[in-house]
Amino acid sequence: MLLTIPDILTKAQVAECRKLMGQAEWVDGNITSGHQSALAKNNTQLPEESEVARSLGEFIQDALSMSLLFISAALPLKVFPPLFNRYECGQAFGTHVDNAIRQLRGTNFRIRSDLSATLFLSEPEDYEGGVLTIEDTYGTQEVKLPAGSMILYPASSLHHVTPVTRGTRVSSFFWIQSMVRNDAHRTLLFQLDNAIQKLTADRGGKDPEVISLTGVYHNLLRMWADSG
Ligand code: NI
Repeated sequence: MLLTIPDILTKAQVAECRKLMGQAEWVDGNITSGHQSALAKNNTQLPEESEVARSLGEFIQDALSMSLLFISAALPLKVFPPLFNRYECGQAFGTHVDNAIRQLRGTNFRIRSDLSATLFLSEPEDYEGGVLTIEDTYGTQEVKLPAGSMILYPASSLHHVTPVTRGTRVSSFFWIQSMVRNDAHRTLLFQLDNAIQKLTADRGGKDPEVISLTGVYHNLLRMWADSG
């Protein structure tokens, strides 16, 4: 499932992030790449252990924890601390698949990447190119979102970022280990949750079918989830 989550950050929050990032030191993006990715990648990143990256990452994680849409779609067990990249004119990231396992350097924190996320921090009109292109079972998807909005997609997808031909593209990217490993199961739970929310709004939470379907949702979650 490919899902756009609008307005994870407000425009004011994006501006605050960009201000801090503008004062930070950027380094070659290949420090976080796997071997194959390193061959394809040409961008810069905030060093992951830097104070700026860490505090901006915590800020984004707080925003994620308040997004009901994110929680319903991702059913997150663990979120890798967000990283930050920047593409300037001529820079791109060729086709690759993200590493299956991510370990936070110098710690025991390790996740299986079930979902990849990109949170856009530049407005689409501020750069040309820089399109996140994701190959999934429905074909090729081209993603370029307003600043503050995020795309969530299966980490198993091949994807690339087309060359930036004008301006600068800045974003945050990270991975999620879901309580529900299987993408098809997670998608069904998301669809069911959406339908229950709508039904609840129409009929109220005491409606017998709402109660029954809520039971089905939780029993499917019990069947498929791994909570730690
Ligand atoms: Ni990637």
